[in-house]
Amino acid sequence: MPSVEGVEARRAALQMLDAVLRRGQTIEAVGASARNLSPSDHALAVAIVGEAVRRLPDLDELIDSATRQRLPDDSKARMVLRLALAQKVGLGTPDHALVATALPLVDGGPRRLVHGVLGTLLRRGVAVPDAPRLPAEVEGRWGKAWGDEAVQAARRQIAKRPALDLSFIDDVEAQAYAAAHGGTSLAPNHVRVESSSVTQLPGFGEGRWWVQDLAASLPARLIPHDASAVLDLCAAPGGKTMQLAAAGHVVTSVDSSQNRLARLRENLVRTHLKAQLVPADATTWVPGRDFDAILLDAPCSATGTFRRHPEVLYRARPRLIAESAEAQARLLDRAAQWLKPGGTLVYSVCSLEPEEGEEVIGAVVERHPKFEIGPLSALPGFVPATGGGWARILPGLLEAEGGLDGFFMARLVRAA
Ligand SMILES: C[S@@+](CC[C@H](N)C(=O)[O-])C[C@H]1O[C@@H](n2cnc3c(N)ncnc32)[C@H](O)[C@@H]1O
Repeated sequence: MPSVEGVEARRAALQMLDAVLRRGQTIEAVGASARNLSPSDHALAVAIVGEAVRRLPDLDELIDSATRQRLPDDSKARMVLRLALAQKVGLGTPDHALVATALPLVDGGPRRLVHGVLGTLLRRGVAVPDAPRLPAEVEGRWGKAWGDEAVQAARRQIAKRPALDLSFIDDVEAQAYAAAHGGTSLAPNHVRVESSSVTQLPGFGEGRWWVQDLAASLPARLIPHDASAVLDLCAAPGGKTMQLAAAGHVVTSVDSSQNRLARLRENLVRTHLKAQLVPADATTWVPGRDFDAILLDAPCSATGTFRRHPEVLYRARPRLIAESAEAQARLLDRAAQWLKPGGTLVYSVCSLEPEEGEEVIGAVVERHPKFEIGPLSALPGFVPATGGGWARILPGLLEAEGGLDGFFMARLVRAA
């Protein structure tokens, strides 16, 4: 049978969605492994999957409204329907093309069912909210921790593609770049641009900036200017290492992933910045010296990055969050041993879970009485103060300007 045009992209999208939702892979990883597609099919497949994951609860509600018996979450019929509806609401694909490219995916299987459900929904008119619902567990958790306003803001944000934030080595250049290229500078050394093609942007080749969400650039700003030797623990791919090196610190960057350290090395070459790179597991590594300051940007559930990586909301189950929190506490206990008296330890995570932020820091100051929570005066004025002395970046912050990733950061100071 001749293949219908566009089916290959949808077939790849089906495999990708399955890998993301059932096997917990990232959209980026499954996209990178789909190598036998044309560039346009590849881009289409990734776009469909992204749209489906962003809107999954609303798409599932539509599907459930048109079936007598609820289709299992991981059934092929539900996956194919999710993809077709994602194209309808997110990509404006015409109805005939949706149907023609969906049905071959269920040949020899639930073809009649999929055809029937799609027909019913398309006749009825497919309407979804502008601000998609998040998975129910996530709305429950975030509602409890941060309130309904934060949940509503997160719903509005997950529908949009975030702008691109650039971190500059030099603030004078950042301001000149913003003026010349129509970007917005929301903090020193920062420019926000509307673009999706990083390598095409002016200045990429010269290495005067790198891509880094504005929220991710905040923790390194908490390292005191006069700290000489700085340890960047869990450093790759290196946004914070580059900030620290650009600020003039002598940086040692440790990461356990060789692949990610290779990207850090490439980033340093491109930006002409220097750091000593150490491939090591920080839970067993022994530095053999103390540091003036340490930045621990710990591995975490990464739920704060849901705008770029909506699948994190499905991967970050309570067990993963609890395991991350334990690993973060272990890393903090290690780092606490390597700081000079009077030194600064900055802890950060791109997570919106209090178990990985507020609770980890609350417990660490109890375990390490020599440490106190220090001031956050170096942060830009838009960062709200919290009673605990740490900074918590929630989805509604700077929303009119395009928003930020969710983040937590705290500065601990060791008694002299
Ligand atoms: C949130 S990412 C770091 C991002 C980085 N700080 C930046 O700004 O680009 C966490 C990193 O921790 C690393 N990692 C996880 N467990 C580690 C361990 N036990 N020791 C060292 N690195 C670890 C991971 O390989 C990952 O690169």
